[in-house]
Amino acid sequence: MYRTHSNGELRIENVGQEVTLAGWVQKTRDKGFMIWVDLRDRYGITQLIFDADRSSKEMVEEAKTLGREFVIQVKGEVIERVSKNKNIPTGAIEILVKELTVLNKSLVPPFTIEDETDGGDELRMKYRYLDIRRNPVKNNLIFRSKVAIETRKYLSDEGFIEVETPVLIKSTPEGARDFVVPSRMNEGQFYALPQSPQTFKQLLMVGGLDKYFQIVKCFRDEDLRADRQPEFTQIDCEMAFVEQEDILNTFEGLTRHLLKEINGVEVAKFPRMTYEEAMKKYGNDKPDIRFGMEFGELNEVAQHKDFGVFNNAELVVGIAVPGGNAYTRKEIDKLIEWIKRPQIGALGMVYVRCNEDGTYKSSVDKFYNQEDLAKWAEVTGAKPGDLICVLSGNADKVRGQLSALRMELATRLGLRKPNEFAPLWVIDFPLLEWDEETQRYHAMHHPFTSPKPEDMHLLDTDPGKVRANAYDMVLNGNEIGGGSIRIHDKKTQALMFDHLGFTPEQAKEQFGFLMNAFEYGAPPHGGLAFGLDRLVAILGGQETIRDFIAFPKNNSGRDIMIDAPSKIDDEQLKELCLKLDLKNK
Ligand code: AMO
Repeated sequence: MYRTHSNGELRIENVGQEVTLAGWVQKTRDKGFMIWVDLRDRYGITQLIFDADRSSKEMVEEAKTLGREFVIQVKGEVIERVSKNKNIPTGAIEILVKELTVLNKSLVPPFTIEDETDGGDELRMKYRYLDIRRNPVKNNLIFRSKVAIETRKYLSDEGFIEVETPVLIKSTPEGARDFVVPSRMNEGQFYALPQSPQTFKQLLMVGGLDKYFQIVKCFRDEDLRADRQPEFTQIDCEMAFVEQEDILNTFEGLTRHLLKEINGVEVAKFPRMTYEEAMKKYGNDKPDIRFGMEFGELNEVAQHKDFGVFNNAELVVGIAVPGGNAYTRKEIDKLIEWIKRPQIGALGMVYVRCNEDGTYKSSVDKFYNQEDLAKWAEVTGAKPGDLICVLSGNADKVRGQLSALRMELATRLGLRKPNEFAPLWVIDFPLLEWDEETQRYHAMHHPFTSPKPEDMHLLDTDPGKVRANAYDMVLNGNEIGGGSIRIHDKKTQALMFDHLGFTPEQAKEQFGFLMNAFEYGAPPHGGLAFGLDRLVAILGGQETIRDFIAFPKNNSGRDIMIDAPSKIDDEQLKELCLKLDLKNK
């Protein structure tokens, strides 16, 4: 037996017991006749004492050879510590070591394996297995495991069955690029890795499984950000014989269960907001509603004077920044610089200081009097002491810019509290989205999403106005899940492909299997998928999903620990009938 106890287990009640422990040497303190070692494992740290008087001189000499991260096993007696450490659960005892076995030596680690480490990001990723020994990373992985287990428990209790779907498939259009895998046995042909199991879960409904879920890896070759990885995990679900309401209730239930079990937080019924309302009030389809600063549209109260910039704008819109009047001129200038950066792209910003005495001072005083500005304050909900920030221009662009400003200011003001949870459903998404680049409509969610029956008549005349039976769950300003009621008849699906610019032949070639299945009694169905990585990160009070993934990729999509992706040798290329032509890239 390697150990009788873990390193987080022994207490004062265990004094007098003979125990065997194993773990990693975190730290040694050498006092000549006595050596203390902090022994670490996943469960905690136990202090070992090697004492020339109470065990043997040889024992102490042996202990002196121990280096950081050596793996050792010790046998000894639990004794009471003279000076206790109140900061750790095992702090009242130590082990008087009588036998020491070095199970494995270690090189000096490239960074300290402590909560606050001296290792930079790159180094920690390269030696991720050492990083995982550190509490912050280890605890995130334990946290993730808990969320996954609670999810399985909840869904299983609700009658869902977990089914695995294939990973080597044909491309499914979810908006990103596919990762492809060449097939050796089928020359010149490729599998695609699933961007999601979308079509398979729909086929499982045709198969009569009724309630499906899967905690599943998905792959998308897209630009990476803090909340995006090229391979990520979904809690993927589908249900038959349901309406939108059934799905929202089921997954609101799951989210409420997780918030309660994982975070100890009880949340009332989730608010629902239409996409249109979210865009108008927050400029964003994933609003953070933990704080106010809602948009106030100012066209009516700002377009009656000689200020051409506003008069020519499609939208004039502002937010009130609580306490923002305290900003110095310099700070405001910096803010203006911030929103003019290319990433945000605003052309400028008008601001109004709301003084404590009820007067206003704006950057456009030449055009607007106190009475005008009072109306702006009313529309944006500004109070004395606030600062009103106003942007103008193309409605879609301006909303995006003001939304970025709102989030940035809220972060600076400490309004985005990690331990406060404000979930909501955003519903009634548009079915289609105009893509400037390709000059055609794309499915906003995916091509299997059903239009709202009452909007069907607009498909030919005003496709951009058609709303879908699609919904997102938003938590603290992050889209953590999305789904829809699906099309389940061949005719509507064919019509949809037609509107998305597929010829009947293309639709048949890519999705014939699904359309065929729809001819064999496909039940009405719908579902959704949560991003597990995002959900876990947000429940854990953070937004960078990489910290909750055991072996994540960096921003260029590389795993720097195993050095992937990598070249393959000529033999392999030949076998796959592939020829590289890097010059043409
Ligand atoms: P969607 O594309 O909205 O829907 O994805 C569902 C959820 O997955 C998460 N997500 C990601 N997480 C990390 N890295 C990524 N690159 C990434 N991309 C997406 C998000 C998102 O809300 N098949 C549909 C679901 C359905 O209709 O049932 C789908 O995949 O949290």
